[in-house]
Amino acid sequence: MPLQHLALLTSGGDAPGMNAAIRAVVRTAFYHGITVTGIMDGYEGLVKNDFIELGPRDVRNIVQRGGTMLRSARSEVFRTKEGRATAAKNLRDAGINALICIGGGGTQSGAHQLANEQGVKLIGVASTIDNDLGGSDRTIGFDTACNTALEAMDRLRDTASSYGRIFFVEVMGRDTGFIAMHTSIAAGAEYVMVPERRENVDELVRVLENRAKEKGSSIVVVAEGDQEGGAFKLAEAVKARCPQFDIRVSILGHLQRGGNPTMADRLLAARMGAAAVEGLIAGKEHCVVGIVKGEIAFTPHAEAIAQKKAIEPDLFRLLHMLAV
Ligand code: F6P
Repeated sequence: MPLQHLALLTSGGDAPGMNAAIRAVVRTAFYHGITVTGIMDGYEGLVKNDFIELGPRDVRNIVQRGGTMLRSARSEVFRTKEGRATAAKNLRDAGINALICIGGGGTQSGAHQLANEQGVKLIGVASTIDNDLGGSDRTIGFDTACNTALEAMDRLRDTASSYGRIFFVEVMGRDTGFIAMHTSIAAGAEYVMVPERRENVDELVRVLENRAKEKGSSIVVVAEGDQEGGAFKLAEAVKARCPQFDIRVSILGHLQRGGNPTMADRLLAARMGAAAVEGLIAGKEHCVVGIVKGEIAFTPHAEAIAQKKAIEPDLFRLLHMLAV
């Protein structure tokens, strides 16, 4: 049956650029004569039948906005088989032939289950500030989150260098250190701590001591999921070894999830959103849309979820080489 009516949701952690992706989906569908239903609050709204009609004018003036006009949620009921059966029934009852799920790892795992178990025809769009989903070299929101964190680090450097202080700056990244790694290089930080690598605190102290001899400021970027337990714990461990250090901690937190998407994220969102619709028209399903080596790619859900995307190892070397 040709695609006539599709539904669209955003789920999990919101990411700047989700709105640009929604706009791309709605307008590409309109271009191809396909009706679009928006689902509020992610999978929660899918189970509760919270649907709205979306035409091309309903998505005006959102391309530049952070957050998601369809809202997001982490749904408990959708984790149950009954919840997913209700979700699939609601789609059928509304005459919807396919679903587009915009989100990160959790969202795509949910989509995978819905497709496998309930036979829903769907496509995922890779979107998370953490950049930790397979199937796309960069996920929607990552670039904006990095730029937001970077701006904060530049400001912290101003005050840190006025006092010769050490700042431990914690960025998001529960399981992966993409934001930490990329921003640490861009901010000219002295050290980075990421969940993927166990670092030696003594080595960190050695670097900071050398730096202190020159009376310079230092910035240590810490991913929230780092193996020492985050920026506060790490700062305490360093202070216990070097009581003379003047240390401050700054947790950037959810600041990184908001704000106007950068050009890179808007472009990514536009390309992926349009590709999701045109992929469905071409008969693709049960896969995640991303951009791999500059080209649109459709990766089977199981593969995209299982892929462990690694931080480029040369970046660690680069950071330590430049942070003299
Ligand atoms: O969006 C991803 C992420 O930002 C993680 O890095 C972070 O741990 C988590 O979401 C926090 O999200 P929430 O407060 O919505 O549970």
